[in-house]
Amino acid sequence: MAEADIPSLIQARYGTTTNFVATGGGDSGGNSTLETLLQHRSVRHFLPEKLPEGTLEIIVAAAQSAATSSNLQTWSVIALEDPEHRDKAATLCGDQDFIRQAPLFLIFCADLNRLTKVSAQHGLRGEGLEFTEMFLMASLDAGLAGQNATIAAEALGLGACYAGAARNKPHELAEFLKLPPRVIAVFGVAIGKPDPTKAAAVKPRLPQKEVVHKETWNSGVNEGGSEVQAGNLTEYDVTLASFNAGERREGVPAWTQRSARRIETVESLHGRHVLKDVLQQKGFNLR
Ligand SMILES: Cc1cc2nc3c(=O)[nH]c(=O)nc-3n(C[C@H](O)[C@H](O)[C@H](O)COP(=O)(O)O)c2cc1C
Repeated sequence: MAEADIPSLIQARYGTTTNFVATGGGDSGGNSTLETLLQHRSVRHFLPEKLPEGTLEIIVAAAQSAATSSNLQTWSVIALEDPEHRDKAATLCGDQDFIRQAPLFLIFCADLNRLTKVSAQHGLRGEGLEFTEMFLMASLDAGLAGQNATIAAEALGLGACYAGAARNKPHELAEFLKLPPRVIAVFGVAIGKPDPTKAAAVKPRLPQKEVVHKETWNSGVNEGGSEVQAGNLTEYDVTLASFNAGERREGVPAWTQRSARRIETVESLHGRHVLKDVLQQKGFNLR
């Protein structure tokens, strides 16, 4: 990624000038970790180049460096490099071409299979594994690992894009990947060298004042009684519309409208509504 100073990266992240100072108290200039984080953008166009030797290993080491609940490490990852496998996975994951293009597709799984065996090894019941808490824990662990992997890839100058569509056909994907009981794919991350002719831009986020609540939940009503949240969301609709116009994305609905549509019906879940049943079939008998 190109070098840039923190204030201008913050401005790009919000798509507007901000009325706060973001430094962490010290001089955050030249902090490559912050620069990598702030420059994140999903990359969906890759060069057809293999990754250098050792890339998978360093990315996985970074993923395993993430914090993990009680050091239980309730996740596993499946690395797909074989073009035929990536093609099949792409088809199962929303038929998304960036998965076919990327030389590496990592599928992060919530893995309670390992602890099932550990319980048996010690002649213990493993009753805790049957609770929603453990599935949530495993999904969180997988998410943290996946984010570390993504940041590691970006720090190496690679591009990445998550694929939540790994849950579109959870049963079929589990079969294809030969997942054992109590292992389920929660998301994928496609990684590769970004195609410079199709560079992705930093997408602005909601204003901080919309997502941060200080000390207790903010009721969202200001002293005059008007809805603060509605104003924040309108502000973001305008910011994102201007970003989309700059990206020549015509006809994209406002963020609020697009988001509302994304959750409108069962169909808008793209097949993921069966997840509870698939979890049950895969041995996650969640209580
Ligand atoms: C868990 C997760 C799943 C995602 N799934 C997909 C996906 O299936 N296809 C896709 O094109 N982008 C996917 N994304 C990328 C988001 O669309 C993207 O992060 C968001 O629009 C913000 O854009 P940015 O990453 O460029 O900042 C996913 C992101 C996350 C965190």
